[in-house]
Amino acid sequence: MITIIVAIAENGAIGSGNSLLWNIPDDLKRFRRITMGHNLIMGKNTWYSLPRRPLPGRLNVVMTDNPCECIDNCVCAYSADDALSKCNQEKEVFIIGGGMVYREFLSKAHRLMVTHVHKEYRADTFFPYIDPEMWEETEREDREFDPECGFSYSYVTYIRR
Ligand SMILES: NC(=O)c1ccc[n+]([C@@H]2O[C@H](COP(=O)([O-])OP(=O)(O)OC[C@H]3O[C@@H](n4cnc5c(N)ncnc54)[C@H](OP(=O)(O)O)[C@@H]3O)[C@@H](O)[C@H]2O)c1
Repeated sequence: MITIIVAIAENGAIGSGNSLLWNIPDDLKRFRRITMGHNLIMGKNTWYSLPRRPLPGRLNVVMTDNPCECIDNCVCAYSADDALSKCNQEKEVFIIGGGMVYREFLSKAHRLMVTHVHKEYRADTFFPYIDPEMWEETEREDREFDPECGFSYSYVTYIRR
């Protein structure tokens, strides 16, 4: 099972200046709970954007095109297939970003776990359109106004049709 896990604004925005666009404590806790013990695949930019590296309790696989690049405290991978082959095959695989890596894995993923943020943001990194002909919504949990972050969002799961 390959799962993309991502938070997306209404205009598709996911990041700017190699940072997230929001702070949603509930979403961060949920991300930790869902991914704990499993494999994480991410791009090099996302790796360097993490406040704490590696993300504990999970295999951190970091993608780079540069075979001479040595990144401490993670497993480096040089293509999507290489990243998948370096994962622990008995665990789930979560694709955790960013934009480049999501685009690469969208055609390979079986499931999308999306936090839809009900706002628009200026950004430099976007998630591709989620085509309803390709992806079936199977679960939805709407969070009306969350006082911790000041807006509403929805947790939505899609399965490939
Ligand atoms: N909203 C969310 O849920 C979410 C989640 C994660 C990240 N983000 C945001 O996304 C942004 C970062 O995304 P990004 O698109 O700039 O970067 P990224 O996808 O994190 O990393 C891109 C880098 O990964 C490597 N890479 C990507 N595809 C590869 C491939 N097929 N083979 C080998 N290496 C590959 C390359 O590294 P080299 O240059 O070394 O070759 C590339 O420059 C940030 O703003 C971050 O905050 C948002």
